[in-house]
Amino acid sequence: MNISVIGTGYVGLVVGACLAETGNDVICADVDSSKIDGLKKNKLPIYEPGLEAYVERNQRDGRLSFTTDVGWAVGEADVVFIAVGTPADEDGSADLRHVLDVAATIGASMRRELVVVTKSTVPIGTAARVAEAIARAAKHSFHMVSNPEFLKEGAAVDDFMKPDRVVLGVDSDHARGVMAELYAPFVRTGRPIIFMDIPSAEMTKYAANAMLATRISFMNEIANLCERVGANVDLVRRGIGSDERIGPSFLFPGPGYGGSCFPKDVQALARTARERDVSLAVLEAVEAVNARQKHRVAEKLMGALDGSLAGRRIALWGLAFKANTDDMRESPALTVIDDLLAAGATVVVHDPVALHEARKRLGSRVEYAESGYDALRNADALAIVTDWNEYRHPDFERIRSLLRRPVIVDGRNLYTVERMQELGFQYHSIGRPDARKPASTSTVGSRT
Ligand SMILES: NC(=O)c1ccc[n+]([C@@H]2O[C@H](COP(=O)([O-])OP(=O)(O)OC[C@H]3O[C@@H](n4cnc5c(N)ncnc54)[C@H](O)[C@@H]3O)[C@@H](O)[C@H]2O)c1
Repeated sequence: MNISVIGTGYVGLVVGACLAETGNDVICADVDSSKIDGLKKNKLPIYEPGLEAYVERNQRDGRLSFTTDVGWAVGEADVVFIAVGTPADEDGSADLRHVLDVAATIGASMRRELVVVTKSTVPIGTAARVAEAIARAAKHSFHMVSNPEFLKEGAAVDDFMKPDRVVLGVDSDHARGVMAELYAPFVRTGRPIIFMDIPSAEMTKYAANAMLATRISFMNEIANLCERVGANVDLVRRGIGSDERIGPSFLFPGPGYGGSCFPKDVQALARTARERDVSLAVLEAVEAVNARQKHRVAEKLMGALDGSLAGRRIALWGLAFKANTDDMRESPALTVIDDLLAAGATVVVHDPVALHEARKRLGSRVEYAESGYDALRNADALAIVTDWNEYRHPDFERIRSLLRRPVIVDGRNLYTVERMQELGFQYHSIGRPDARKPASTSTVGSRT
């Protein structure tokens, strides 16, 4: 099939590469010429495990190509995916400018009957607006599909190749047939393709992200209460997660959710509800709880360092909003850094892959360390914000020798309290008792 994907960001690039991998001819188009120039040379603008090999192989074999000419890409296609960004507008609603721009180009540039698929996360009713914009100039018939994307950054290729389910809102049998054929290679193990009407598909994406964000905020509140009542949220999490009705995923408390999706999608859904005079009280609370939670790491540091951060030097491990990505959009690390700087601290940061992104965002406001250990030199405390694997089993003896004081605030609960107690750290995590015992000897012991 001839496919064009418009927008070559986290979603568009994964969609394009994976559809080429299953034998389709795919053109990926983007208005960002530096992105496209790089991709033509197999240089990826993002960090996403496994994606580079797909791009390289399919480009070499001629199934995948890149262009800045969106109109030309549309003209070549039987199926066009819209995968441009839909950032939050100032009032919380999704900014549909890019989506509607692309729709106008599709109308003006299509050269045959077309299936138009919205991959971008868009508010309920957007497919109808896209269809309207296309129809203004269209000379051929077209079919609308809403195909929300559920991939997770950091595991995006796997998620696309082996989806839990594919949701397809369609408006015609033709669209249904084309999409069923396109997705057949990805659901061979029996994972469902769920066909539905278009508004339900648009709603499904928001409801899924709202549910996941709700679980996180719920657990963050439970964790905060655990701290006050002397309970351990790790045990509570296991206790409730083993209930089949609840399940174990997405029950980890932390420094608050971030990323390019949850914050803006929760806001956009709340906004949609308000516009229709519907109260989504749970969701409003989810957002408020998350905004508060992002300050917890800095608050804990303040408490651990005698109530003042002025003149302190803080090492911060992890800048990406979660592990295995370089995406810092809405990352809790940004709030932590703002809080620390506002309180008069100096911040030295490390991240395995997001340092280049951090330099763009933070400039000279912080210092940068090329290794996690370098960040610790002469720091008064270590704050952990992202759950990268390389932070899970560090050399604790080295950490203690580099830090001025053995203080760790762990926003991801990477270590056990017992172990940290044993090692003599002053250790504060989320929803668990603190380890406060000073080391009885200077020997810290080997790695955990
Ligand atoms: N990132 C995720 O994990 C994820 C997951 C599921 C859904 N989504 C949704 O998918 C959509 C895309 O997200 P993303 O993270 O890939 O965004 P992104 O910002 O990484 O990429 C968007 C791309 O679209 C390009 N673009 C903007 N206007 C354009 C135009 N008129 N023509 C051509 N290209 C244009 C930009 O240059 C950019 O490269 C959003 O609606 C998002 O909510 C994202």
